[in-house]
Amino acid sequence: MDSIIIAIDGQASTGKSTQAKKIAKYFNYNYRDSGAYYRAITLYLIQKNISSDKSIPETILNKIHVEQSFEEGSLKIDLNGIDVTHKIRGFKVSSYVSKYAKKQEIRNFVYRQLRISAESSSLVIDGRDIGTVVFPKATFKFFLLADPKIRAQRRHKQINDLSVKVESIEKEIKTRDNIDSTREIAPLKKADDAFEIDVSCLNIEEVFEKLIQKINLQ
Ligand code: CDP
Repeated sequence: MDSIIIAIDGQASTGKSTQAKKIAKYFNYNYRDSGAYYRAITLYLIQKNISSDKSIPETILNKIHVEQSFEEGSLKIDLNGIDVTHKIRGFKVSSYVSKYAKKQEIRNFVYRQLRISAESSSLVIDGRDIGTVVFPKATFKFFLLADPKIRAQRRHKQINDLSVKVESIEKEIKTRDNIDSTREIAPLKKADDAFEIDVSCLNIEEVFEKLIQKINLQ
């Protein structure tokens, strides 16, 4: 593997994807949002009424095609040819995604997509287990975390929908973090060799500077 891999793992709503996109642009690398794969798969399975309680057959997973591309500077996610960029960020998918992401067959499916992408280019990838499981030999590894209240306030501001209460967002991200970090397969945890940043009191530019500084130093 000659490609450079920059893994940005961490808790929900810590700004991983914002940072990963900025780093990808800065170094002119490709970017992959691993969470977007889990979200798109979740959307597909919810739409087909396929429960997360049972194992998902390969024949069903093979019908799911997720594409990530950049359009006018922003990431576009297509599910079987349909633009689902906004739909996968909705409350319903957010509430279900961690239940589906626990499943080994779904994780294997996503791992395959990510590893194929890395064969042809250097990548910045954000997620939960990129530096621990998907690319344990990643060139650079980061782990972002923050106070749940601050994360909920930031996400609330980002979705800009007054009908959604900040308290519900806080509950949703805490529940997800709990499922993600206690699951048996590929739990959310810092890799021993990852550089940890608490972003509670840092703005986007301050976090970005820390990341770039660390990359340039190594
Ligand atoms: O943007 P946010 O941090 O809220 O979440 P995301 O990165 O879109 O990920 C959504 C969910 O997908 C997470 O809560 C995890 O359950 C799952 N996920 C995962 O299990 N492994 C990854 N590498 C990325 C996401």
